[in-house]
Amino acid sequence: MNAIYFDHAATSPMHPEAVQAYVAAAGAGPGNPSSLHAFGRAARSRVTAARDAIAGLLRCRPDELVFTGGGTESDNAALFGAARAMRARDERRTGIVTTAIEHHAVLHACDQLEAEGFALTVLPVDETGRVSAEAAAAAIGPTTAVVSVMAGNNEVGTLQPYAEIGALARAQGAVMHVDAVQAFGYEPIDLTALPVDLLSLSAHKAGGPQGVGALYVRAGTPWQPLLFGGSQERKRRAGTENVAGIAAFAAAAKLAADEREARRAHAADVRGALLRALAAELGPDAFAVNGDPRPEGSLPHILNVSFHGVSNETLLMNLDLAGVAASGGSACTSGSLQPSHVLAAMGLAPHFCRNAVRFSFGLGNTTAEAEKTAKIIATITSRLRNR
Ligand SMILES: Cc1ncc(COP(=O)(O)O)c(C=O)c1O
Repeated sequence: MNAIYFDHAATSPMHPEAVQAYVAAAGAGPGNPSSLHAFGRAARSRVTAARDAIAGLLRCRPDELVFTGGGTESDNAALFGAARAMRARDERRTGIVTTAIEHHAVLHACDQLEAEGFALTVLPVDETGRVSAEAAAAAIGPTTAVVSVMAGNNEVGTLQPYAEIGALARAQGAVMHVDAVQAFGYEPIDLTALPVDLLSLSAHKAGGPQGVGALYVRAGTPWQPLLFGGSQERKRRAGTENVAGIAAFAAAAKLAADEREARRAHAADVRGALLRALAAELGPDAFAVNGDPRPEGSLPHILNVSFHGVSNETLLMNLDLAGVAASGGSACTSGSLQPSHVLAAMGLAPHFCRNAVRFSFGLGNTTAEAEKTAKIIATITSRLRNR
């Protein structure tokens, strides 16, 4: 089967150099970075080198990075850590402000914080999936503890005004968290210039391995750890480090940063080719693009499309049978596709939500694959309509 993988936003293939870095670290012999002997010191030096490399890319201090078990853990650690620390400093600081289109790692953590007595405000978004800085300004005040706004959305790609909102949060003395899991590798992130206190990354969205990520914690940010039981990561994340995963994360992150412009152009090419081919094969009225249509308003590697009259579940199943991997603009819970909270927040009619498919692009994809996929979709949709 000549498979086509258009689901890079779910997980990206590991870059061969990241695999090499992983194998080199995993094969180097035993070594717990906390052990004082030579084996331990060798493992520790791998973690230190990786931390230095990633800090260099983000322009932060190495000791401001905490390695985690991925994006979900980074988001949870950011929100619980900052909310609890802020309230411990000042009991009036109980406000959490976030947006309706965050990943569930943020939204469900916020729900849990609400259950613990924090006051949650979930900001709405416009029809392109963007929150407004004005709405954020109205919601952020002197009792706000944490503001969490993602850099770029994982379902529709829409970029968010997180830097503007970060400045508003700062002005009110609140902690600013940014989920940059999808944006990393596509958008520049310079932490010397951004009003951001906490930032989440995940290796496997950028050519690194699954199960490893990082949380940036700006020096001096009120924040407390989520995990206890060891002094790893300067007592900020207990547990033996994933040494090979961290080494591979650094290799992937370096490549992603070095090749950012080329990767952006490549993803935009494949995205554009798919859109053009869909219009040619199906007709321009057979589908609608969800999100911000302007390239400058969106991550280049994500395309969310609603196909009129075809449920995404049926289309995705048929695409899978034809060797094309894409995903619903929705979470898959107990084997069934749930309507997407992102599309619902954008005000899409329920049938548009049920028809939405996310294609996401990355290394290895070609415009020929995009054209072939459009032909396959045309065959599937006409077969379904003629049934
Ligand atoms: C925006 C965003 N945040 C967080 C996550 C969770 O990351 P991980 O899979 O590393 O736990 C994802 C994964 O899809 C994501 O897209």
